[in-house]
Amino acid sequence: MILNSSILNSSILNIEQALAQAATLLADPTKVRRIIFSGKQRNLMPPYQRIDIRPVQLKAGLHWQCVSHDGKKDITKNLPLDQLNLGNYLMDGYANLIVENDVQQFNLRVTKSGKAEFGFTKVSRDIPNEISLSHDRIKIRLLDETDPIFIALGISDNDGVLKPTRTDKFKQVQEFLKNIVEVLPEVTKKSLANKAIKIVDLGCGHAYLTFAAYKYLKNQGFAVSVIGVDERTDSRERNSQIAQQLGVSGEVKFEAKQISNLADFEVDVAIALHACDTATDDAIAWAVKNNARAILVAPCCQHDIQRQMQVAPAPWSIATRHGILHERLGDLITDSLRAQILRILGYKTEIIEFIAGSHTPKNLMIRAMNTGVHNLNRTPAAKSDEVKAKEFAEYDLMLQQWGITPKLQELLAAQLDALR
Ligand SMILES: C[S@@+](CC[C@H](N)C(=O)[O-])C[C@H]1O[C@@H](n2cnc3c(N)ncnc32)[C@H](O)[C@@H]1O
Repeated sequence: MILNSSILNSSILNIEQALAQAATLLADPTKVRRIIFSGKQRNLMPPYQRIDIRPVQLKAGLHWQCVSHDGKKDITKNLPLDQLNLGNYLMDGYANLIVENDVQQFNLRVTKSGKAEFGFTKVSRDIPNEISLSHDRIKIRLLDETDPIFIALGISDNDGVLKPTRTDKFKQVQEFLKNIVEVLPEVTKKSLANKAIKIVDLGCGHAYLTFAAYKYLKNQGFAVSVIGVDERTDSRERNSQIAQQLGVSGEVKFEAKQISNLADFEVDVAIALHACDTATDDAIAWAVKNNARAILVAPCCQHDIQRQMQVAPAPWSIATRHGILHERLGDLITDSLRAQILRILGYKTEIIEFIAGSHTPKNLMIRAMNTGVHNLNRTPAAKSDEVKAKEFAEYDLMLQQWGITPKLQELLAAQLDALR
């Protein structure tokens, strides 16, 4: 690393001292997690909103990968190790510098009077210890916590540091995103050429996932449009403001609506993260009716079936006599029946753990792909009558034994009846 001596004059002498401290963390570049420049010094206008730098192993050897963000797009340059000049970036006018390695974080802020305030802190235990030098690290953590969307959403602070209280939500979003990535090949396989991928986030709340889905796909070079739906008007207002602030309001829009009242529109991927109780059923039903290619829902609390499970069929009373098991069995039955309905309707359906239970107890995801053998379409590849009859028989037996009627069945009665 080169320290630029031209920045060093008597009035900002302590910037030199501060940069010398920062340099101690760069002694072993393989241990550096990140370097971030952000903010602006008084009367100066740095060329980008923020610059993120990390070591990256290229064929040509270890380099610094510098990603400059102007709020809309990212510009990436790889610098040989000896060409990183922290002083130059400060001269460009950035006011804040973070340098973090595997044990410490160095923070520098240039004050209004041009002095440097700086200090060291230990790195958070929430951040994994291993440092990936892979050029493809973005594929493991799909969006960095320093991304402007996370700062705008309040998941990270103004310096791009993940807030400890938001770690679980950040991880839920990352893991959910990985599932969107998994269904992408199928989603983009047919007829998407030159068209935007259309995503709807049902019960979007503060829209963490909505913005993250947009940003990730955009970063991957896809044209994408996302609509976040929530019954709360304050959510729509807050989220729309953030979209405007990020300059993406043309592609990320919000509606304040109950999912059950949402108008029909074309959609490729329908997502719902912790839509409360039967809002998950509303989300699945809306997605089916609008022929979504992929449906990814991580259900939240579920009371509908639990309430209906008044008399357990033998021998299940040995479980349901315990309140907590009654509740958990209710959850399992609810999701099993949701998955079975989707299967009957021609969706290839699985239930997976999308994230470790330590980040949320509501860690199941129903992942359903429209296989194109939707029975209503009577395509040549549609399921045989025998398979259909077996799926219905299993489903009906479960309902009959427990004396229950799932909300999703009511919502999709016409579609199901058409297949009987
Ligand atoms: C637990 S929050 C989850 C928010 C967001 N998906 C997330 O994971 O951060 C559930 C959200 O669903 C919204 N919601 C609940 N029922 C709804 C319905 N029937 N229609 C639309 N939104 C609903 C709530 O207002 C709330 O914002």
